Amino acid sequence: MESRTIGHRSVSAIGLGGMPLSIEGRPDRDRAIATVHAALDAGVTLVDTADAYHRDAGEVGHNEELIAEALRTWGGDTSDVLVATKGGHLRPGDGTWTQDGRPEYLKAAAKASAQRLGVEAIGLYQFHRPDPSVPYAESIGALVDLLDEGVIQQAGISNANVAQIDEANEILGGRLASVQNQFSPAFRSSLGELEHCAELGVAFLPWSPLGGIARAAEVGSTHAAFGRVAEQHGVSPQQVTLAWELSLAPVVVPIPGASRPTSIQDSAEAVGLELTTDELAELSDH
Ligand SMILES: NC(=O)c1ccc[n+]([C@@H]2O[C@H](COP(=O)([O-])OP(=O)(O)OC[C@H]3O[C@@H](n4cnc5c(N)ncnc54)[C@H](OP(=O)(O)O)[C@@H]3O)[C@@H](O)[C@H]2O)c1
Repeated sequence: MESRTIGHRSVSAIGLGGMPLSIEGRPDRDRAIATVHAALDAGVTLVDTADAYHRDAGEVGHNEELIAEALRTWGGDTSDVLVATKGGHLRPGDGTWTQDGRPEYLKAAAKASAQRLGVEAIGLYQFHRPDPSVPYAESIGALVDLLDEGVIQQAGISNANVAQIDEANEILGGRLASVQNQFSPAFRSSLGELEHCAELGVAFLPWSPLGGIARAAEVGSTHAAFGRVAEQHGVSPQQVTLAWELSLAPVVVPIPGASRPTSIQDSAEAVGLELTTDELAELSDH
């Protein structure tokens, strides 16, 4: 599969988002493992996870442990697979999401994630979401310490605006590897951050690239141009959506979620889908 870069790592141009495998509506363990294996079989070498991808209280790290198990049981060489995790977002177990961006919390969380993933150093660690009660610079300072201590190999951020991207990159001494923001046909207001990342040469990982778990199936009808182009090519509207995102800049690496093997198999094929300049312009306009 075509590769793109995140910092000093080469990864497949389409990654796997792990969230649907661990939150509400998640599949049973066998189907979850089969979904990750299908991604690896398809040549996916980026898996996005987070310590907060779990459903109930008391199961922090559910998704990280699942991904680690899937990598162990796959049977192939996983040395080129980048597992990107996150910290700083929490799920108390009542369906809500909370934040904790205190440096001491983030450092302990990263060490716990490394243990669950079974690695000495995390390939990419992302600060999940700014915590309004903690100065951003302090949270990013924890990433600097984690890099310097060798707990993480690369640092990224998520849910950040242009000013925060610049601030993080400066504090990290130019070592910001990635930005993960919401971006899809339904949510384009982070195009400015995407373009800023392209200028900086920092990877941009669109989250909920198909519109989110509840809306992904309808992307071709809620955004008719995507459905039309899909029909012309005889492929799924989801593939067209991911191919369009890939076309926006060489730093873009979408991470579609999946809870069944066929979803990620289909998404991975977006890499080979060639859309014309006219089609891409039409998709960007609608
Ligand atoms: N940083 C953040 O704050 C943040 C927030 C949200 C998500 N994320 C990350 O971004 C990832 C992706 O976002 P998401 O999972 O919320 O939403 P999404 O990728 O927009 O949609 C996921 C859903 O799309 C369906 N799907 C995927 N490929 C498909 C295909 N080719 N054809 C038809 N359906 C397809 C899957 O269905 P099935 O379940 O039926 O397979 C899956 O449930 C997450 O998994 C997570 O890693 C990050």
